[in-house]
Amino acid sequence: MIDFLISLLGKLNPRLVAALEKRLRKIPAVRRQIEKEYDALMAGLEAELKPYRGEFTTYAALPENGRTHTDILQEMKSLNQREQSRWQNGFVSGAVYHGDPEHIEFLNKVYALNSQSNPLHADLWPSASKFEAEIVAMTAAMLGAGADDDICGTVSSGGTESILLAMKTYRDWAKERKGINKPEMIVPETAHAAFDKAAQYFNIKMVRVHVNSFFRADVAAMAQAINKNSIVLVGSAPSFPHGAIDPIEQLSELARQRGIGCHVDACLGGFILPWAEKLGYPVPLFDFRLPGVTSMSADTHKYGYAAKGTSVALYRSPELRHYQYYTVADWPGGLYFSPTFAGSRPGALSAACWAAMLAIGQDGYLAATKRIMETAVALKQGIAAIPELKILGDPLWVIAFASDEVDIYRALDVMTKRGWSLNGLHHPAAVHIAVTLRHTQPGVAQRFVDDLGAAVAHIKIHPAEEGGMAPVYGMAATMPLRGLVTDMLKQYIDLLYKV
Ligand SMILES: Cc1ncc(COP(=O)(O)O)c(C=O)c1O
Repeated sequence: MIDFLISLLGKLNPRLVAALEKRLRKIPAVRRQIEKEYDALMAGLEAELKPYRGEFTTYAALPENGRTHTDILQEMKSLNQREQSRWQNGFVSGAVYHGDPEHIEFLNKVYALNSQSNPLHADLWPSASKFEAEIVAMTAAMLGAGADDDICGTVSSGGTESILLAMKTYRDWAKERKGINKPEMIVPETAHAAFDKAAQYFNIKMVRVHVNSFFRADVAAMAQAINKNSIVLVGSAPSFPHGAIDPIEQLSELARQRGIGCHVDACLGGFILPWAEKLGYPVPLFDFRLPGVTSMSADTHKYGYAAKGTSVALYRSPELRHYQYYTVADWPGGLYFSPTFAGSRPGALSAACWAAMLAIGQDGYLAATKRIMETAVALKQGIAAIPELKILGDPLWVIAFASDEVDIYRALDVMTKRGWSLNGLHHPAAVHIAVTLRHTQPGVAQRFVDDLGAAVAHIKIHPAEEGGMAPVYGMAATMPLRGLVTDMLKQYIDLLYKV
């Protein structure tokens, strides 16, 4: 019945569907059917997500007596060993961007030295503020800050936090400077979900604008979307789904002319594009060299090769950055201030980030980018040689591919069975691989291309094979019932927190 309903609703106007959906879900029989479907789906996923049940003790309460360090470490080592080989051997899109054992060992030593440090207490750990100030300065210098510029920023916990911070900053800036009480942000539909999160958290209207056939922001459409409530235009360099670099030069000029902010999300590309440009790859201007760019996000914990948990939010001026800060002067706990969302923060992660940047240096980033770009060229050639597949847009190293002939999600499933962990995309249905240093190891690119070719051949012979994630992706991509998909995602998160 659900299938029938979905196919029927898919033919209707989306607004009408949303209204109908609310009513339909109140009908007991429909609700029961939906719950049954969820239960079956979640039961299938539970076994996969909880592989250690039974084999290892599960703790739903504190152990009565503390366990020995040796015992705990031994257990963790065995979990670690099981989880390491996939990313270590280059089977994973993105996720671990460096991963050489020697580099990890070095970061771990730095973490251990600094594990008690908290930048909230700058008096106790001035080293933490030294590390953070220098991380910001080094990132700004890499992203086009000139000697006369006042580019500044803060260290955050990751790309999402950098984006949330920047959007909150524009909201508060526009309220104070322009009296905008109903702020709107104009965002290409391919921009990261973190922008949508910012819109929800900070009550900013999200105006989504379509992209062109190369998956880049449509500047004319973005211009048309600007009104008196607009606070910021967003562009990605590059976007997560298709690795497309939006036309930042035009977007930033448009923003400058209209007196609004222009945020460049370089979470993925901030530590690759400057070096790819030096290597001669076709990289358009995307950073603070463009006068209209007023803020950027760049992730040190991706291609900056730091440990997970750091990113940088950059602003054109200290005045703009002030709208990010939190300060309170009349709290009984004393004068309180924090630059980002968190209060206490892990100084050890900033220390490890600083250490990674120093250890790698300009020559290291250049060499790493060269390896990544060369591997990406090999992968693109290999994918293009599979007749059933097509590469979306003209990506540099985040490569999305789709098919008009086979179900691409089934190809994704077969790749998963062969050990790969790739990203399923939708609108349009596609799969991507973000090339990292793990893929530059000998033989990995060829293995990817061979496995992908074999996966496509397999699904052509077995088009009706059941199971895997293909039905879930398919359902999420085609389902007109947004509320149902949202419920499903919430159930998935619930499952993650089930002991
Ligand atoms: C373009 C882009 N922006 C933002 C993010 C969010 O970063 P994080 O997962 O560190 O929060 C990502 C993550 O992949 C990204 O690719």
